[in-house]
Amino acid sequence: MKSQVNTPEYFIQLEDKYGAHNYHPLPVVLSKGEGVFVWDVNGEKYFDFLSAYSAVNQGHCHPHILSALTQQASQLTLTSRAFYNDKLGEYEKFITEIMGYDKVLPMNTGVEGGETAIKLAKKWAYKVKGIEANQARIIFAKNNFWGRTQAAISASTDPSSYSDYGPFMPGYDIIEYNNLEALEIAFQNKNVAAFMVEPIQGEAGVVVPDNGYLKGVRDLCTKYNVLLIADEVQTGLCRTGKMLCVEHEQIKPDILILGKALSGGFMPISAVLADDEIMLCIQPGEHGSTYGGNPLAAAVGVASLEVLINEKLAENAELMGQYLRTQLQEINHPLISTIRGKGLLNAIVIDDTEESDTAWQICLEMAKNGLLAKPTHGNIIRFAPPLTISKNQIDDCLGIIEKSIKRF
Ligand SMILES: Cc1ncc(COP(=O)(O)O)c(C=O)c1O
Repeated sequence: MKSQVNTPEYFIQLEDKYGAHNYHPLPVVLSKGEGVFVWDVNGEKYFDFLSAYSAVNQGHCHPHILSALTQQASQLTLTSRAFYNDKLGEYEKFITEIMGYDKVLPMNTGVEGGETAIKLAKKWAYKVKGIEANQARIIFAKNNFWGRTQAAISASTDPSSYSDYGPFMPGYDIIEYNNLEALEIAFQNKNVAAFMVEPIQGEAGVVVPDNGYLKGVRDLCTKYNVLLIADEVQTGLCRTGKMLCVEHEQIKPDILILGKALSGGFMPISAVLADDEIMLCIQPGEHGSTYGGNPLAAAVGVASLEVLINEKLAENAELMGQYLRTQLQEINHPLISTIRGKGLLNAIVIDDTEESDTAWQICLEMAKNGLLAKPTHGNIIRFAPPLTISKNQIDDCLGIIEKSIKRF
């Protein structure tokens, strides 16, 4: 018999009593991960269909990244940027060559990447575009999500993100997503510095814009001399079937934000990429972070990118994603009203009101049957497994999804 300290209830109660109540997790307590699988403290095995919100694209505890991490951790972990280190430059060269930008600015979390991109755009607006002091405006799309800081929630249109956190950051405008006319109207203001947008809105429920939207955004930004900031924290790094989601429309953002899978789930690593004309607007002392660009992150970042490329995870995401969506259609259950996504960033919309808990109940049932997924926004369930998943494994997952939904 298990001692009381090993039971799921014990761990759940601990978090409940001593941790802030800022999350509502599924009642499963995980203690191990490998590839597309995670195990709970009872030894039950699950397919991970969330991948830590697309941070674990390379699969859990990938041996190549683990080896880079442990090797570097025993050598040198943090110098701060007060000194040079022998890993950062190599990482910077590697990531800029892959992504096609002159320079990278390393940070830690995704939201810091967003903050950095906005600061960079503002510097550029004052120094290069010639906007009058303190007049720069940043445009965002409705239902955007880029994190939880004051700057990020000031851009949010979701009351659960921003309520009771005012006063908010000034200088932001919100327009409809997937609406080029609204964007052009917003650009009539000469003080607009940048439009920051997710190529697919992840947290909003995997909202895929029309074909041609991103290309249209690029053209308008160029026409009005406004910087295009692509937030690829969730969509980037092979998740949607290309290294970057913007590659589906062959456009190059002026500023690119990456995070999450840049470490394959090992530690927070984010990056902001831009060409010299923009990046060199920030000078020494004008932005930074104690941990940003640390040698441990640099080694892990290189290894994580190597896995994405060497294991052709973009190609696998594209193929497996198409297969998953086609097979989900076959389930043909009245509760599934929509199936959408690109690559392995997918969602099903449960045909019910936003307020009902059917999606949550389906997720509990799927967990019982060995697959972990979570609703975003009430009635939408995201399906985003690690990109290493095989066709046989997708078939097993489809079996679980079908069996679980058919109970409703
Ligand atoms: C598109 C996007 N940007 C930024 C973030 C924030 O990343 P982090 O939670 O690492 O701060 C997220 C997190 O889900 C995201 O989906």
